[in-house]
Amino acid sequence: MLTTMPQMRVDPIWDLASTFQSDPREDKLDLLLGVYRDDSKRAPVMRSVLAAEAKLLELAESKQYRGLSGNLVFNARISELVLGPELVARATTVQTVAGTGALRILTELLAITGPSRRFILGTPSYVNHAPIIKAVGPALTSYDLLDPEGRFDEQAMLDAVAQARPGDVLLLQGCCHNPTGLSMSSRFWAELTEAMLTSHVVPFVDQAYFGLGDGLQEDLEGMRGMLARVPEAVIAVSGSKAWSLYNERAGAAIVITSEDKRGFARSTLETIARSSYSQAPEHGAAIIAEILSDPALERMWRAELDAMRRRLATLRTDLIDGILAVHDSPTFRAVAEQRGMFLTLPLTVAEMQTLSTEFGVYGLPSGRINLAGVPRGQVSTIAEQIGQLLTRRRD
Ligand SMILES: Cc1ncc(COP(=O)(O)O)c(C=O)c1O
Repeated sequence: MLTTMPQMRVDPIWDLASTFQSDPREDKLDLLLGVYRDDSKRAPVMRSVLAAEAKLLELAESKQYRGLSGNLVFNARISELVLGPELVARATTVQTVAGTGALRILTELLAITGPSRRFILGTPSYVNHAPIIKAVGPALTSYDLLDPEGRFDEQAMLDAVAQARPGDVLLLQGCCHNPTGLSMSSRFWAELTEAMLTSHVVPFVDQAYFGLGDGLQEDLEGMRGMLARVPEAVIAVSGSKAWSLYNERAGAAIVITSEDKRGFARSTLETIARSSYSQAPEHGAAIIAEILSDPALERMWRAELDAMRRRLATLRTDLIDGILAVHDSPTFRAVAEQRGMFLTLPLTVAEMQTLSTEFGVYGLPSGRINLAGVPRGQVSTIAEQIGQLLTRRRD
């Protein structure tokens, strides 16, 4: 049976991760996956998470099945956090298998409720966006997110919305775009909202890196302003990044709609979940629920998240300053405006390959590196190595 199947191409990031594993050099650096690391290259467990886990252990709650919407306290708390107090009344939230699970079941919901809808996606985008849409089946159209200088092309996004048909879906990232580091300004969120209202486009917001750009409030406010104005929207929330809970698979699917459609939204999401994995895993969601229900734990978590954010911002500035000292160019200066965990270096595929083979610094062929994976003590060395690659361009 399996011999008749075509070979499937898994996301190449995992191939690179295994090349990294087999690289014998001790000073090699893994800047591949979007995982927060500290200066010792470890992906630490947050102190607030450990404290919440200790409380959960003590409570020793039953492990019986939850309902199909998952942990209801988690759903309420994460919706309040992401949407703020005003919008939460318009939300229907279902716990999901992390951000990926939310993207998947929301895509299915949109496909079921509008079989002829098209999804509009700016490229480059998160590598799993297009595969999820293709796996579910709706038509996918794309536009270039960046202009030839590598800057955000606002007009291209507005044009894509203007050309949309009513009911089409614009898939956006809420902040700290993966891989470009783009965070849209409040001014542009407002302009985009007007365009979506005119074209009757449904916004689909992927919120994965909130808190890691300009601050929790700042990272969410553009989306909140938009949600306050549109009649319907869907939001996929990942608990993986802001709580460093990658392997616990915590996330939420949120649907914003009028009151009369909320029961339908919930039953549709629950039906999709039932036929795929039935119920999302409890542990990560229970940790987040505990943190967001306990003011002292929430303060601790917010302080930890902010420290992560500040470290990323310093790493970005120091790395870019180091590179600019060797090679000043507008494309590299533009990189300083990026936000969040990633930095996309304007390097060629061949230069990224040299960075790994010659210096043991592993990023993606697109130039994307995980900034958090750079230990502070190695910033100047990496800047120098990238500088060397750029000097070779002139030779
Ligand atoms: C933009 C974006 N969305 C969603 C996800 C999915 O995250 P997870 O399923 O681990 O919560 C990721 C993971 O890297 C991401 O970068």
